[in-house]
Amino acid sequence: MFTASQLLDKINNYISDIQFTRSPKGLYEPVEYVLSLGGKRIRPVLMLMAYNLYREDISSIYDPATGIEIYHNYTLLHDDLMDCADVRRGKPTVHKVWNDNTAILSGDAMLVLAYQYMSASTPMYLKEVMDLFSLTALEICEGQQLDMEFESRSDVAEGEYIEMIRLKTAVLLAASLKIGAVLAGASNEDATNLYNFGMQIGVAFQLQDDLLDVYGDPEVFGKKIGGDILCNKKTYMLIKALERANDKQSEELNQWLNAVTYDPAEKINAVTALYNELNIRGVCENKMREYYTLAMESLEAVVVTEEKKKELKNLVKLLMYREM
Ligand code: IPE
Ligand code: IPE
Ligand code: MG
Ligand code: MG
Ligand code: MG
Repeated sequence: MFTASQLLDKINNYISDIQFTRSPKGLYEPVEYVLSLGGKRIRPVLMLMAYNLYREDISSIYDPATGIEIYHNYTLLHDDLMDCADVRRGKPTVHKVWNDNTAILSGDAMLVLAYQYMSASTPMYLKEVMDLFSLTALEICEGQQLDMEFESRSDVAEGEYIEMIRLKTAVLLAASLKIGAVLAGASNEDATNLYNFGMQIGVAFQLQDDLLDVYGDPEVFGKKIGGDILCNKKTYMLIKALERANDKQSEELNQWLNAVTYDPAEKINAVTALYNELNIRGVCENKMREYYTLAMESLEAVVVTEEKKKELKNLVKLLMYREM
């Protein structure tokens, strides 16, 4: 049984040893750049942890674990382009260091690389793994499309938001865990319960990401604060603010949402001030706790010893209260 931090070290070493020897350099340098910036690597760690609930030979799934991380990083290259985000992991994003076309094409190459790594899964479970991976990748596109469509809508309901983040974020955490379980030969019931567990922590994870986009410390978070406010992202916080606002607050919020020309810092400050007045942070944290509780119930149903679940529980707790 390995700790989360041991698994993180192992997968970090494995990923940092990858040599991109193909050319042209212009295609692969951005791939090396983004992978060198690390990040939390929670998806491969979750995959390894799920596998390690059943088996000790974790090195046999380093390739699919690497595949899931490369896939995640591909989504970030395209997401930063779509969200006009200049900073990630404390460094300028690929489309800033290079250009938009580079972010598109190096991202495409990463998607293919991810498939290559994922398809190195043990042949016995290959079809099941690839089917789940492909469905997940499609769902993420669907979630990202909804995320963009919601920017220009003013009537997004809470349920629609939850479904959008389930698709764009939670299914990848869920699939990471399920793939780990499948590759370890776990029962279908356990694999499904781990999938549901991942989905529920994934929803809480995106709620926290949205919260940090407003309340985080940019030095720790590694991204610019207020990006979601500037894009009119329909986050849980904005939806709840619109719901809870009195007439005056509602008018002010809508003015900022409809403003065409404005000073970005002023908009971020004004919307954040409204969130503060309405205690939106607390409302969001309550929702996160709801999903955290659901996740713990799903984990309870997994038929492995309490001792084995402990690492997973610790990691999830850390994720809930993370600042990055
Ligand atoms: C960022 O994912 C995108 C979201 C789903 C919120 P992470 O917060 O896992 O980013 P890194 O990989 O640690 O940088
Ligand atoms: C990320 O959502 C979802 C995917 C990358 C698929 P965000 O747009 O909130 O992620 P960050 O905040 O840029 O990391
Ligand atoms: Mg983004
Ligand atoms: Mg986005
Ligand atoms: Mg975000």
